[in-house]
Amino acid sequence: MIGIFDSGIGGLTVVKSLMEKLPGYDMIYFGDTARTPYGTKSPETVVRYALENTDFLLKQGAKLIVMACNTASSVAAGRVAEDYDIPIFEVVTPATENAVKISNRLTIGVIGTRATVKSGIYEHKIMALKPDAKVYSAACPLLVPLVEEGWMKKPETGMIIKKYLQPLKVRQIDTLILGCTHYPLLKDTIQRKIGKRVHIIDSSIAIAENVKFFLDTHPEVDSQLSKNNAFKLFVSDITEQFEKTARATLKRNVHLEHVEL
Ligand code: DGL
Repeated sequence: MIGIFDSGIGGLTVVKSLMEKLPGYDMIYFGDTARTPYGTKSPETVVRYALENTDFLLKQGAKLIVMACNTASSVAAGRVAEDYDIPIFEVVTPATENAVKISNRLTIGVIGTRATVKSGIYEHKIMALKPDAKVYSAACPLLVPLVEEGWMKKPETGMIIKKYLQPLKVRQIDTLILGCTHYPLLKDTIQRKIGKRVHIIDSSIAIAENVKFFLDTHPEVDSQLSKNNAFKLFVSDITEQFEKTARATLKRNVHLEHVEL
């Protein structure tokens, strides 16, 4: 089984991409809805949560872990990879690799939660690949609650996105990384506001391509993963909103199971 975790609902965008790239693979998802959001918490707390989430998924039979949450990937991936001897994937690396490949002028924007932006991980990884790149980041803390409220198409959301993107627009970025699980659900509005010539990197697609490539080139790991098209969905707090968004995002019926960590 592929184990995926996120602070809550947003990581389902990663599950959707994984299901498209790896149809039939059994997956188990844990959404930490009782402790969300992670984006406003300290790195120490997010590391603790990430280790507990990984532990839970491994006990359920996961043989490979995908950290769908950008915040957890930004501050906890190193520690999780250190503690566990199985393949651990995070969303930051594939997104930065795709960004430097596609960017013509290496002028790259990143948007994410406060914790992700504060970690500086995107700048660090981009500069490690291309030291002459220019990276501009903006924290967009209001976008997560707006998505959770289902306000994707509201004019107010468009206005807030425009305000957040203004400093990146002034820098004339040519590529923008969506460094948060929730932002793919706002992709059309973000593209409109930043301008249609700016390449958008959706980290949910980048990670799914990365996992697929890894499995194609590591048959010894691939053979350990069951492929019965099963999907298990665990949350630390069951809410009606989660169920509704899960069904809408995955376009399939879902059954939520409660777990306390
Ligand atoms: N999953 C988080 C991320 O991708 C967004 C929600 C939160 O702050 O927990 O950064």
